[in-house]
Amino acid sequence: MGSVPEADWLNLLIGLLQGAQLQLLRVLDALGLVVQAHGQPAWPWDHRLSGENLLIDLGQARRLGLTVVVLAVAFVVLLLALLWRRRRLWLVALTTLLVVLAPWPEANVVLVPAYPTSFQQSPTGFTAASIDRGRVLYAAQCVACHGTDGKGQGPLAAAQPVWPPNLAGPLLWRRADGDVLWHVLNGVRDRRGAVTMPGFGPALRDEDAWALIDFMKAQGAGESLRAAGLWTQPIAPPDMAVQCKGKPRRMLSSWRGQRLRIVAAGGGQPLLEDPRMVTVFLKPNAQAGDAQFGDAQTGDCVADAPTAWSAFSLIAATDRLAGTQLIVDRDGWLRARGEPGKNEWSDDDLLCRTDAPARAGSKPLPLPPDGLGALIARMDAEPVRFVKGGFVH
Ligand code: HEC
Repeated sequence: MGSVPEADWLNLLIGLLQGAQLQLLRVLDALGLVVQAHGQPAWPWDHRLSGENLLIDLGQARRLGLTVVVLAVAFVVLLLALLWRRRRLWLVALTTLLVVLAPWPEANVVLVPAYPTSFQQSPTGFTAASIDRGRVLYAAQCVACHGTDGKGQGPLAAAQPVWPPNLAGPLLWRRADGDVLWHVLNGVRDRRGAVTMPGFGPALRDEDAWALIDFMKAQGAGESLRAAGLWTQPIAPPDMAVQCKGKPRRMLSSWRGQRLRIVAAGGGQPLLEDPRMVTVFLKPNAQAGDAQFGDAQTGDCVADAPTAWSAFSLIAATDRLAGTQLIVDRDGWLRARGEPGKNEWSDDDLLCRTDAPARAGSKPLPLPPDGLGALIARMDAEPVRFVKGGFVH
């Protein structure tokens, strides 16, 4: 979660690269010049420009940034040349000079291998139902190598040509989703072209593969919470249907732009509505009555799909979700968790933060009496600036 000072212009540059290529693909598609792959327009080349390496190699990123600026200037000069006849020769020469002298970055840094699906985006909406579907498929097809926690310690792992990677680490967040999709459906190969992971294309439909990606992300978030005590990669709340008293059902994601508090029923304490947030009560299933949980009040908005309960349990890394509170920021990222039975909020509850590593040893700043208010203020002041797959998410 970029806290480096370069983050701003780097985000801009990488966003520009991604946006320009996506637009190009859309134009080619509109002109009927590309084929379809897995239900969306296919990227026609075997390479693409990527920000993945730029995040690591700042020197090359600067060169690329400068080159973009120089090329923009060259373009303007070229336009001038078209209009200004008398100086045309000079201006064209200047354009050529600019293009030649631009500090071009090394091709092998900015060009990465691409697949037809590289630019595809998930159609699932990261719903609880999709995560749950992924959970079932993962247990059936992937667990033997990748292990129950996704860390690559399954019983067949040692027999593979390379060790399966830790899916709970940053890998899934560095890769473009479309590349992960391709790897799951068509397999992974090493540099010499030998298969290192088999493809599951015949056995899995496209939606299945996207559901697996949703599950792996949710599981990865839970595992990072277990290991580091933080959501080291930003994670969104699983989307789910919410029923508010006297209103039609709506999806959780439809509140984007407002803060949300998701409260897993069963905490036993009365919880009042809070004007700073929309409160949604999560029940393990539709049958679970309020009295059963001892909640004095279950509030106006309730979600009761069993898949939602299990998806939130996965991300919050607990099998005792009851009483847990989760706070979602205005941009739709899960930011804080209040553990069951704890009334006060502290800085430690902010699990997705912009100053990434846990400040081991140093005492967290005490929050003023209204701890939740201070937490919200900090959450708002430090939004997630997230670069994913080498592009801005
Ligand atoms: C037979 C063992 C095996 C099975 C079964 C298996 N994988 Fe893998 N998987 C691997 C290995 C080995 C790698 C590492 C390949 C490499 O890096 O060259 C890998 C890599 C991956 C990666 C990382 C790809 C990347 O972009 O680097 C993902 C994601 C993944 N597997 C998902 C899955 C999913 C989802 C399933 C179930 C549908 C699955 N795997 C089943 C062995 C397996």
